[in-house]
Amino acid sequence: MELLPEIARRRSVRRFHPEPVSRDILDRIVAAGWRAPSAKNRQAWRFIVVTEGVTRQKLQDAAFGQDYVGDAAAVIALCTTNVEYRMPNGQHSHPVDIGIAAAFMMIQAEHEGLGTCPITTYDEQEAKQILSVPHRMQVIMLLLVGKPAEEPELTERLPADRVIVYEHW
Ligand SMILES: Cc1cc2nc3c(=O)[nH]c(=O)nc-3n(C[C@H](O)[C@H](O)[C@H](O)COP(=O)(O)O)c2cc1C
Repeated sequence: MELLPEIARRRSVRRFHPEPVSRDILDRIVAAGWRAPSAKNRQAWRFIVVTEGVTRQKLQDAAFGQDYVGDAAAVIALCTTNVEYRMPNGQHSHPVDIGIAAAFMMIQAEHEGLGTCPITTYDEQEAKQILSVPHRMQVIMLLLVGKPAEEPELTERLPADRVIVYEHW
């Protein structure tokens, strides 16, 4: 199958069937993140795959009760192990690195026929405590993964010619 149609049909899923996702599939999804590029190949990250119901429920509470968080078969916490490092362009690398890893995971999950939703609306201190994340590390994103129980409309995008240009701004 071509890749672009798979990317184009991805949409955020916020209703999940309760059934678990097999360990093999979860392994492939996180392997996609593990293979993702990072600034200077520093790989300053750790991905925590949470499948236990009690922990997912706690993360749901930390996510201000967004009630679909606990319904996802897995919540992958994408953490950085270094919040200080700046790239030569002066910007922090961790949001970029983690964003790319999350994108790779979402595409693999789509390929596996699963739904995902990236979540950044949560109390980060609480999430750290729940997952025993050391003080100096940060949970940058929670990625929900599960069997979709809905097929939401694709969200619109700005016209491509407003966003994509060649040669100059
Ligand atoms: C960095 C980031 C943070 C997001 N945080 C949340 C969130 O906290 N809760 C949520 O329901 N969706 C969240 N989303 C999903 C976006 O709302 C969604 O990707 C966007 O509306 C486009 O829709 P689509 O994913 O269906 O294409 C987030 C997405 C991104 C990329």
